[in-house]
Amino acid sequence: MSITIAVANQKGGCGKTTTCMNLAGGLSAAGFRVLVVDADPQGSATEWRNRSEESLLRFDVVAMSTSSIHKELPKILSNSTYEVALIDCPPGTETKGFGTVTRSALLASDFVLIPTRPTPIDFLATQIMIPVLSDVVTIKPELQVFLVLNAKHANNRLGKTAKEGAIAMFSDQGIHIRVLDAEIHDRTPFAEAPATGQTVVEFAPSSKASEEILTLTKEVIARCLVAQPEEQLLKT
Ligand SMILES: Nc1ncnc2c1ncn2[C@@H]1O[C@H](COP(=O)(O)OP(=O)(O)OP(=O)(O)O)[C@@H](O)[C@H]1O
Ligand SMILES: [Mg+2]
Repeated sequence: MSITIAVANQKGGCGKTTTCMNLAGGLSAAGFRVLVVDADPQGSATEWRNRSEESLLRFDVVAMSTSSIHKELPKILSNSTYEVALIDCPPGTETKGFGTVTRSALLASDFVLIPTRPTPIDFLATQIMIPVLSDVVTIKPELQVFLVLNAKHANNRLGKTAKEGAIAMFSDQGIHIRVLDAEIHDRTPFAEAPATGQTVVEFAPSSKASEEILTLTKEVIARCLVAQPEEQLLKT
């Protein structure tokens, strides 16, 4: 059985592809068989993969920017040995067929990670996700939603209070949205890695960027991929 995680935010440029591809790198390094689904017609994840003819990535990337991901992806996964599928969603609220690509990706998913830059204006822009999340959660109440703080600046006031700010902004939206403990800072290797065809885990293995991705990976494994015994769940 495989787990599907959408990396989504209809707000553009918040770090969906960066988070998705580097998390895929982290999960592959941890031994998981990973498929990245490039659901963005801009094709950023595919472009990243195609920087060199022979892929330098330890996971596969497939392009699928349609409103039927929730129908197509389960078929692909059931005929494969992938353990995790990560969907890199597009920005925007476009309508295609019966719904949006993002809606279809969420319908296909067990979890959704929403990267957001850690400022009040970005939190407000990220609330663009609430209608589609509400819609999908009505159909699929088991969908678990997490915010990932991305591109933080370490030492300013906004950075220091970002998590509390995010919790406050998303606590009364009618959907249970949690904020991951792992946080990603604004770091040069994140911007440099895509052009090399690698993720930061291979491109800059001893960097803080890679360290942060491995911490994010551990949290995602613990929260999304490792089935916890019922007894333990009851205690938490
Ligand atoms: N933590 C970070 N540190 C440094 N640069 C970052 C970080 N996160 C993202 N970036 C840079 O910001 C830009 C936008 O990031 P990215 O492409 O991941 O966003 P996106 O949400 O996928 O965008 P789109 O909505 O267009 O798909 C890229 O140039 C990327 O390299
Ligand atoms: Mg993108």
